[in-house]
Amino acid sequence: MLRDKNLIPLSRQHQHALALCVRIERASPIPDADLGAWQAEVAQHFQNEISIHFAAEERVLFPAARRFGALVPLVEELVADHTQLRASFSRAEANETSAPDLAAFARSLSAHIRKEERQLFEQLQEFMHADELATLGKELAAALVDVGQACQLPTEITKLRPGK
Ligand SMILES: [Fe+2]
Ligand SMILES: [Fe+2]
Repeated sequence: MLRDKNLIPLSRQHQHALALCVRIERASPIPDADLGAWQAEVAQHFQNEISIHFAAEERVLFPAARRFGALVPLVEELVADHTQLRASFSRAEANETSAPDLAAFARSLSAHIRKEERQLFEQLQEFMHADELATLGKELAAALVDVGQACQLPTEITKLRPGK
């Protein structure tokens, strides 16, 4: 199903996070010498965008989804994913992530995003009327207003290498 325009700001942020996951997966196993640069980038991406994205989902999107009984178990799962992912982001911020942890984190983050895109968003678009989606879109825009406009660029170490 084509993504509803009211969910596009969240979907765009999902694309940014997925791009980071793909770079981590392609660079894995990450050599020890590069771990610091990767953890710094992961921590910065969390600060700039994902922390606000998670908060907007928790304050606006998940409560809207919980109104539909069929979506409650999925929302519970997504909330638990956020807790686990926040712990991974804090470990990266504290420089405590190993190369296998980083690869596992990239897999968990992309699995979480796929669950939101393929299950939650699809079903919300099916269950919600156009006016409800419009209200949701306005509330999400207000919740996402603090997302930094600065573009997150990979560093020399974390950029995608040709042939990888
Ligand atoms: Fe999420
Ligand atoms: Fe999300």
